[in-house]
Amino acid sequence: MSDKIAYARHGDIAVLTVKNPPVNALSQAVRQGLWDGINKAEADTGVRAVLIVGEGRAFFAGADIKEFGKPPLDPHLPDLIRRIEASPLIVVASMHGVSLGGGLEVALGCHYRIAVPSARVGLPEVHLGLIPGAGGTQRLPRLAGVDAALDVMTTGRQIGAAQAHDLGIIDVIKDGDPAENGLAYARELLDAGATRRAVSELPLPAPIDWDATFGATLARSKGQISPAWCVRAIEAAYAGDFDAGMKAERKIFFDLMQTDQRKGMIHAFFSERAVGNLPELKGVAPREVSRIGVIGGGTMGAGIATAALLSGLNVHLLEMSPEAGEAARGRIESNLSGALRRGKISPDQHSKILGDALQVVTDYDALAEADLVIEAVFEDMAVKKVVFAELDRVCKPGAVLASNTSYLDINEIAATTSRPGDVLGLHFFSPAHVMKLLEVVVADATAPDVAATGFALGKALGKTSVRAGVCDGFIGNRILSTYRTCADHMILDGASPYQIDAALEAFGFAMGPFAVADLAGLDIGWAVRKRKRAEGIDPRARDAAYADKLCEDGHFGQKTGKGYYDYAAGPKARVPNPDVMPLIEAERAAQGITPRDFDDEEIVRRYMASMVNEAAKVVGEGIARRPLDVDMTLLFGYGFPRYRGGPLKWADIVGLDGLLSDIKGYAEADPYFWAPAPLLEKLVAEGRTFDDLNKEEG
Ligand code: CAA
Repeated sequence: MSDKIAYARHGDIAVLTVKNPPVNALSQAVRQGLWDGINKAEADTGVRAVLIVGEGRAFFAGADIKEFGKPPLDPHLPDLIRRIEASPLIVVASMHGVSLGGGLEVALGCHYRIAVPSARVGLPEVHLGLIPGAGGTQRLPRLAGVDAALDVMTTGRQIGAAQAHDLGIIDVIKDGDPAENGLAYARELLDAGATRRAVSELPLPAPIDWDATFGATLARSKGQISPAWCVRAIEAAYAGDFDAGMKAERKIFFDLMQTDQRKGMIHAFFSERAVGNLPELKGVAPREVSRIGVIGGGTMGAGIATAALLSGLNVHLLEMSPEAGEAARGRIESNLSGALRRGKISPDQHSKILGDALQVVTDYDALAEADLVIEAVFEDMAVKKVVFAELDRVCKPGAVLASNTSYLDINEIAATTSRPGDVLGLHFFSPAHVMKLLEVVVADATAPDVAATGFALGKALGKTSVRAGVCDGFIGNRILSTYRTCADHMILDGASPYQIDAALEAFGFAMGPFAVADLAGLDIGWAVRKRKRAEGIDPRARDAAYADKLCEDGHFGQKTGKGYYDYAAGPKARVPNPDVMPLIEAERAAQGITPRDFDDEEIVRRYMASMVNEAAKVVGEGIARRPLDVDMTLLFGYGFPRYRGGPLKWADIVGLDGLLSDIKGYAEADPYFWAPAPLLEKLVAEGRTFDDLNKEEG
């Protein structure tokens, strides 16, 4: 028998203990071991019941995702579950930790299910671009009803033991050791004369309007197809017997396995875990951080302070005057009330945070004992240098000094201190207590344990942290600046901001670039453009000044009620601002441009080509260590559709040679903007992909 399953006999009960750390994924060896274990128990004279229990953190985290995309190996999971369900012995599942995907499906194939109160179950396959593929779509509706089953499957969310019990998924909840609980429960069942039972033999619940539900689910999923296919898989249960339903589920599962969405989502799954796993930081211990300082209590500083407070850190927030300090406290209180309303913290935690964890101060000396200080003041190099000189003066030796700058040169900031090794960038995204992305900007002199501290802080704050090198805009804003420029060029040439937003939202972006700009504040881009103009813009670059005119007229987007859109009817109204097109038309006329038509396909192709080209430069220059670092930056900070995996995974999927020839074609009209990235040319010449680079770095 496979060494992944231990077989033991306790009187007339056989125990199959799963040993496949860290999370008992159902790899081929585990499936084979369970199959053999059931055979062995049935052949073992005197055995009347079988207990399946997981060792370590979980019952089962589901199918082994590493096997996806490879030829399926015997025994297949649906066959194994059918085999378990068909056993004449009583089969009991004792669940703890998570039972997800194929893991829950194994439990549903067992005859009885007991779980500890902290157990969680779910069918998260939609997050991998799939549907449950081992009977989940056929068994769960029979047990919990169609609506509940659809909710679990289409959201992929985990539910707790109590709710699972209410839905009939768990028979008994009992605290204690899962193996001991399972044995006691199996004994109880045998003593009570309980008999084998099977979920697949339960009658089907009342059907629903399948077409309407399919359509509504598709519309809700923003381009992702797998949630809607859960509906079709359940519907199939009604067309024939259980086996026919299983066949239909299997076909949909394998069809989805072939899709680009599945590839994109599995890339996202593994990259999300690899992104904080940097070879250069292996074995480097972070510095201790329990008390942090935040300088500046505007939207960003207050958001950073909120994130830190929510994760249990003590915060000293520095403002320039008691009035500004009060305003900052107000912003933090309002953020915390939101967290309280959404159930993220208890009323008790809320008052504790506001009671002692937050101190608003006006004197730098109050930061003397901080372990880490994050500066979130006005985006101006001279101002930042003054702040860092003060920090250098007051902070204790070994304190980590961080700047939240979005664009400015951390090397230059670090050089103004006597301790450049302690300085790094921690670039949060607004609102900082909500957005998941944190760019950890490692400057030339940043000490390895300071970089490690940035990642440790990100983890403590529940962020997805990405390592970035120093350049204008780091990874995310540098790429944003390029694709936004591409959008401006298309506008000059004839597209409208509204058509571009619509085309990109249809591609899957959470919001188009102009709606995003309105949300972030048009003054931010304006300040960057002014700075770049002051530094000197290359004469070969095309300029689009119409956006400046909007700002000059006082329109900064949502916060002033008008930007590209008019928000008089509310932030979601998205009514085009009638002032915008005349500004664009005037600029086209001033530049002597005759506008032409763009179709949505060309908009997406150009926009994505510019994004991939800049991303390839960012990787080629070492600003991002790996393509996956770019992918996760765009996914977690810029609304890139998860089901496309990230811009560089998307590029691999559509083909790098086609993209490069598009770029070269566009370069004929504008060779400056469309200069191909050397890394992209190299990969095409060598017939390799960005993902090959991820594997090399692995
Ligand atoms: N297959 C293979 N590896 C898996 C895995 C799986 N199903 N689930 C987790 N892992 C790996 C992770 O990649 C990670 O590996 P590294 O340490 O090498 O990075 C390790 O296990 C630990 O995972 P996390 O870091 O995510 O640990 P966590 O405690 O934060 O979360 C978890 C644990 C909740 C199980 C989370 O990993 C998770 O959600 N896993 C995916 C669950 C899932 O999607 N299951 C459905 C699979 S599809 C299926 O089952 C199809 C079917 O119907 C047949």
